[in-house]
Amino acid sequence: MVLNWLVVSALSGSSVSTAQPPTPVHGQEGQDAPWVVTPQELVDTMLDMAAVEPNELLIDLGSGDGRVVISAAQRGLRAIGIELDGGLVALSRERAEEAGVAEQTELIQADIFEYDFSNADVITFFLLPELTIRLRPTFFNLRPGTRIVSNTWDMRGTEEDPEAPGWDPDETIVLDPCPGFCSANAWTVPAKVEGMWQLDDGSELELRQRYQMVSGELRTGGRRITLQEGRLTGTLLTFRAAGIRYRAEVDGATMTGAASQADDTDRWRATRQP
Ligand SMILES: C[S@@+](CC[C@H](N)C(=O)[O-])C[C@H]1O[C@@H](n2cnc3c(N)ncnc32)[C@H](O)[C@@H]1O
Repeated sequence: MVLNWLVVSALSGSSVSTAQPPTPVHGQEGQDAPWVVTPQELVDTMLDMAAVEPNELLIDLGSGDGRVVISAAQRGLRAIGIELDGGLVALSRERAEEAGVAEQTELIQADIFEYDFSNADVITFFLLPELTIRLRPTFFNLRPGTRIVSNTWDMRGTEEDPEAPGWDPDETIVLDPCPGFCSANAWTVPAKVEGMWQLDDGSELELRQRYQMVSGELRTGGRRITLQEGRLTGTLLTFRAAGIRYRAEVDGATMTGAASQADDTDRWRATRQP
């Protein structure tokens, strides 16, 4: 690579020291998405929606001029930006330096489809819809509880049918007045609960799962009760059955929690069946 630059420089008569990546231009094409910035107000909203905490790790996929990474670092997070364009990586490093957060940030020139971001607590992105559809299976298999926030695009649709149902956001906020791009979507990666579970009292719980939405049946005392309002928020499972509200923390093959009706609350626990 260095040799190529030397050859090009020698042929063009320029010196090696001028071999800089081109200066980024807003709106320029990227490999998979152009460079368009998220308005600062929406960046702040996205970080609020992710309920970021100091010392967490945020990774921005396609980090542009580094504004999401810098804002996260200013809130005390460790923040990594993954960006393919060398000019933008250089610009974002300069901006992080100017903002005094160079130590807490890493601005890496890489392809988001080749970078392992599974250690993030929070993922942010502003990419085109077809990219988010491609990333959706990877996102769904991240550690339960990982928060994902996007500028504008959601994770509905398929490559063949952009209107097809997909992974609905847990929350959408639309800014009014709109600062240019107005909406942000947030998801929390749910635990995987699909299958048969047995409660300690011998009852059986059959769960079906579509992303964070849960349906199924509780079989207890000879009755089959259809679950209502089943939902996962990260590792927290909630549903209602025969007027009783169930909540449980899912930890691998065990879930433990409370079942409440009026003023009565009982503890319950279930284990996954093979
Ligand atoms: C719409 S901009 C978003 C920039 C920044 N995250 C923000 O919100 O202001 C998308 C960025 O993704 C970058 N990009 C596109 N395809 C990429 C890829 N495969 N890997 C890494 N970065 C990519 C583009 O160069 C561009 O800077």
